[in-house]
Amino acid sequence: MKTIYCTHRIPDVGLRMLRDKGYEVDVAENEHPLTKEQFLENIRKKPYDGVITLLTDHVDHEAFDACPTAKIWANYAVGFNNVEVNQAKERGVTVTNTAGTSSRAVAEHTVALMLALSTRLDEGDRFMREGKYKGWDPDLLIGVDLSESTVGLIGTGAIGHEVASMLYKGFGAKIIYSDPIINKQIEDEFHAPRFSIEDTIRQADFVSLHVPLMPETHHLMNAERLSLMKPTAFLINTSRGPVIDENALVQSLRDKKFRGAGLDVFEFEPHVTEGLLQLENVIVTPHIASAREKARNAMSVAVANNLISFFETGKGINVVTR
Ligand code: GLV
Ligand code: GLV
Repeated sequence: MKTIYCTHRIPDVGLRMLRDKGYEVDVAENEHPLTKEQFLENIRKKPYDGVITLLTDHVDHEAFDACPTAKIWANYAVGFNNVEVNQAKERGVTVTNTAGTSSRAVAEHTVALMLALSTRLDEGDRFMREGKYKGWDPDLLIGVDLSESTVGLIGTGAIGHEVASMLYKGFGAKIIYSDPIINKQIEDEFHAPRFSIEDTIRQADFVSLHVPLMPETHHLMNAERLSLMKPTAFLINTSRGPVIDENALVQSLRDKKFRGAGLDVFEFEPHVTEGLLQLENVIVTPHIASAREKARNAMSVAVANNLISFFETGKGINVVTR
């Protein structure tokens, strides 16, 4: 019988699949993500065969040492920057993610942030609540049209592709992109030309980040690249916080170097850089882009399928330690 540790409640559907196989699954009962100490302490308790982790768990050499029996670590996320993949490879440990489960949800959230900014939705909401509405006014809160906009995608994986599809088909927006690899599908389906990161930023009315966090993408949006944004442009981030230099972002927005930002992720989560929340030209959400019932259930099922496949065939499905 296999014994699995899960560092937080996840939707039942995946846990049920594992228990139906006769596996024992211990789920942490904590309200919040485990601290590093709690995480290490808990995985030391039994010789677990597998561990289910959240993106807030640091799966590093200390974790592998704390539970050397676990040969599979199934991350309940698409992103796996919380895992020391090289360490895992060296130890012959398999790490999996939930690729393909949440692209649609994250893309919808990305477009929601764009629309909130283009229609000045949250500004309008604040305006009403503050009792400032004194009657219809031709000049009140004028926004921009997504249909007239050029959207610059930085990264065109599954999520970038969904965003392009929604904006091109639904709004008739012009799509341009930057990616180290030519994306023939995006070019054919959405007539999207590929540019360097700099040229994508220079031309876009919305710059939207869809890259995984890796050493190469850490502070990809640094002060210099932020300075290339059009004064009328918006920056959207539903990827990982550290892709943007958040201090430089606050400074650029304070100086009104560009028009605004829509952010679901933060460099020092859950902490938000001083000054960011005081800015009027920013809309923020608490890392909820994939927080839709369908996506979260699919993530839970993917985690279970990865574990079951690993235990039954020796291979996970969405393996990131290749
Ligand atoms: C969420 O951020 C994920 O990576 O799935
Ligand atoms: C990145 O995680 C993507 O799927 O686009």
